[in-house]
Amino acid sequence: MSLIQNEEKRNASEGRSSRVSLALSGGSTPKALYAALRAQHLDLAARSVQYFFGDVRMVADDSPHSNFLMAHEQLLHAVPADHVVPITTVGCTAAESAEQFECVLREQLPLVDDGHGDAGCPQLDIVLLGVGPDGHTASLFPGTPASTETEKCAVPCMPNEGVQPYVERVTITQRVIHAAKNVVLIAGGKDKQWVLEGILATDADVSDGRVAAPVARLVRKCRGNVVVLVNQDMIREHASL
Ligand code: 6PG
Repeated sequence: MSLIQNEEKRNASEGRSSRVSLALSGGSTPKALYAALRAQHLDLAARSVQYFFGDVRMVADDSPHSNFLMAHEQLLHAVPADHVVPITTVGCTAAESAEQFECVLREQLPLVDDGHGDAGCPQLDIVLLGVGPDGHTASLFPGTPASTETEKCAVPCMPNEGVQPYVERVTITQRVIHAAKNVVLIAGGKDKQWVLEGILATDADVSDGRVAAPVARLVRKCRGNVVVLVNQDMIREHASL
């Protein structure tokens, strides 16, 4: 929450009246976070935040697999509709939806213009990201074309076999994640411990190729702040290694 307040203050000090842009993650782990946001900070959330999605599954909004449904039930039902930027998930192909989403990102967000490598990329204030047991984040699954896309900001993608739900998705790319002002990773569970170790590994471990989790390598290139939220068990396990 303080990240939202910080970004709000920064907007004000820079004379910008725009809302704080926040991309929500899918998956089940952020449920409690969304509920807490709604319960404790409804007024602030409703007033000053523009909600995006980092990735969506190409299913109807009322499907139990819908990222939108989870976010709506926990948080967005309490937010005015014009503060939520939807991604179309029915009635068009994932490729068409990704194209539309790319245009929306470019229209609604400021573009990076300070001469760094990500110049021209739409810049989100805050990106929340879940972490998969295979080390993916958003819908950037290891080995898929989406995971290595470097030009586009939004792309269609399929997960690898075995990932549930096995449905097509639309996702932001690493370019957008790298350009964001703040990236918040949310991970819980023993099957993600190796990902946490990769995130906390030294640069030497990375250059030696000892960090395998894609998300652990990806966040090292972020230009903004990276915050990692994990559960107590993961911290204990890390401390005992
Ligand atoms: C999605 C996600 C994905 C998710 C992770 C973690 O599947 O929609 O965007 O990246 O966040 O797979 O999912 P869990 O929190 O359910 O473990």
